[in-house]
Amino acid sequence: MKNNFDQYTAISDQNSPTEEGTDFEVSISGLTKCFGDILAVNHMSLDVPAGCIFGLLGPNGAGKSTTIRLLCTLLTPTEGTALVGGYDIIESPVSVREITGVLPEEGNHTLYQTMSVYENLEYFARLYGVAEGEIPQRIEELLSFMSLWERKDDRAGELSTGNRQRLALCRALLHRPRVLLLDEPTSALDPVAAKRVRELILRLAREYNQTFFINSHNLPEVQRMCDRIAIINDGNILMTGTTAELRAKLHAKQIFRLRTSEDVARVSSIVESMAFIEYVRSDVDSLILTIENPQENNSILLQTLLSQNIKIIELAEEETTLEDLYLEVIKGGVDK
Ligand SMILES: Nc1ncnc2c1ncn2[C@@H]1O[C@H](COP(=O)(O)OP(=O)(O)OP(=O)(O)O)[C@@H](O)[C@H]1O
Ligand SMILES: [Mg+2]
Repeated sequence: MKNNFDQYTAISDQNSPTEEGTDFEVSISGLTKCFGDILAVNHMSLDVPAGCIFGLLGPNGAGKSTTIRLLCTLLTPTEGTALVGGYDIIESPVSVREITGVLPEEGNHTLYQTMSVYENLEYFARLYGVAEGEIPQRIEELLSFMSLWERKDDRAGELSTGNRQRLALCRALLHRPRVLLLDEPTSALDPVAAKRVRELILRLAREYNQTFFINSHNLPEVQRMCDRIAIINDGNILMTGTTAELRAKLHAKQIFRLRTSEDVARVSSIVESMAFIEYVRSDVDSLILTIENPQENNSILLQTLLSQNIKIIELAEEETTLEDLYLEVIKGGVDK
């Protein structure tokens, strides 16, 4: 059978509606998790609307996976709680599990290694209560989409790391959950597979209003895909907002590239002495600068350099990225 993804992605009506009074599909309030002396998640509060693709970013050990483990009820909070689809993770863990699909960080290892690819999905489909008559079609559609149909009889443990990640993603999507909690979903995928998964996530969120809570280190991917982002470190939220809000913060500080055919070190020594310039770094043939009030000061900069016979190839605004913002936030350089 060919890939019939429309049928697969049709959201089942059997999922219960969000409880009255809850506007957000994921609503985290004061969520805290300690492991002994380690404060892995520190009074985290944030809300994710339905149909949103939310990206949680942060360095190694920041608390991202712990957050996902708390949301999917694998861990119990030390303090605080969260509602997932209106269900409290402490009071109604079974309901939370029914409406969530999870790709754990160790997703590769949570499959049954000696069972075949097909058997793994069949087992989990039954566990999640997918109607018996729908199981074969749903498995085939998912495996075909992930280019794993040909491998359906192979043991899960014999797959490559990336293919096991694809299989773990199939398992997370199998019961058409309202909320997907995905811990680094594309970390082991090749670029083509990663693009396909991104497109699938976008499609499921836009067309079927499924909500995605995604941990990632892949900043260009998050920038392209996520509607809202939070950056955390040491269990604390450092910055959160929609992509547009973060972009506005980025543009509050304009970065320019000054390309020159002169010796960069010589140009740098001239530029550094100017009060309105915060020197950032040098590149092969360029200086990367932040310029205060560029509307007025760019021309002063150019005139000064020209008066010293410095040849300038270009002075242009650099396209700032989520990576720029992330690096600034992590080192404490951007207002929260
Ligand atoms: N089961 C555990 N027992 C003790 N400490 C833990 C446990 N799980 C996580 N931690 C600690 O909690 C902190 C947060 O870990 P977590 O795995 O959530 O980080 P992360 O942001 O997912 O990092 P990475 O990007 O490396 O996956 C770390 O200091 C980690 O050592
Ligand atoms: Mg992690």
